[in-house]
Amino acid sequence: MSVKDNEKVYFGDEKVSKESKKDGVEDIFSKVSENYDLMNDLMSLGMHRIWKKLFVDSANIKENEIILDLAAGTGDIAKKVADKVSGKTVYVCDQNNEMVEKAKERSLNEGFFNKCNFDVSSAEKLPYEDNFFDQAFISFGFRNFSDKKKALTEIRRVLKAGGNLQILEFSKTKGDVFSRVYDAYNFNIIPKIGELISNDRESYDYLVKSIKTHESQEQILTMMKDCGFTNADYNNLFKGVVAIHKGTK
Ligand SMILES: C[S@@+](CC[C@H](N)C(=O)[O-])C[C@H]1O[C@@H](n2cnc3c(N)ncnc32)[C@H](O)[C@@H]1O
Repeated sequence: MSVKDNEKVYFGDEKVSKESKKDGVEDIFSKVSENYDLMNDLMSLGMHRIWKKLFVDSANIKENEIILDLAAGTGDIAKKVADKVSGKTVYVCDQNNEMVEKAKERSLNEGFFNKCNFDVSSAEKLPYEDNFFDQAFISFGFRNFSDKKKALTEIRRVLKAGGNLQILEFSKTKGDVFSRVYDAYNFNIIPKIGELISNDRESYDYLVKSIKTHESQEQILTMMKDCGFTNADYNNLFKGVVAIHKGTK
């Protein structure tokens, strides 16, 4: 094991080993998978739908492209991408088996199963060959990765030369007053919604803390450049509540 593998990383607001974070994240997403879609709507007041549409629309997907939806959860991004491609070229990948099963079930119910391939795998070790994808998307998964640089290096490996990575993630807000109101909402309201809907305050407490301790826009930009992405850049949406990061192989 190298020194880097021993580095501690944030899990919520605690520093833990990468292995512990991976296990902790697995537990949390297994627990929240049942009510995940409803909770997303309640917690973001429906805003996540707008952000995800902007995220996918801004990628200029072509009909014949091969696309990776990584940390895909229940497949919100895969569904939007499937509308834009013609073949069975969408790869839905998540390390949590329950989430992948939900994505499968949903794709059958909502008519995009035939466009998708499903894989249970962590971002840090992808089951795909080199230079395979035209584009890769990560929506609200990146902050949960236990080794972000390893994952970025893996994603770059599986992208074709000239292929693009886009990351949509909660980020650092701008403006003191707005940031105070946003923090108050996150720390006081979201865990309560979690308790009411899912009887699970703890998992939603983690989600809020993980937003707070996640890297800033500039730190992620540096990380992407360090991992070899060119044209790396980001856009803030809604005063930095979320940011879209882009980079090219
Ligand atoms: C907040 S959900 C986002 C799901 C979906 N992309 C969306 O935008 O609604 C985060 C997902 O990331 C997955 N995840 C966390 N760490 C991961 C990793 N290292 N590799 C792959 N998936 C991971 C979790 O299992 C979970 O399904």
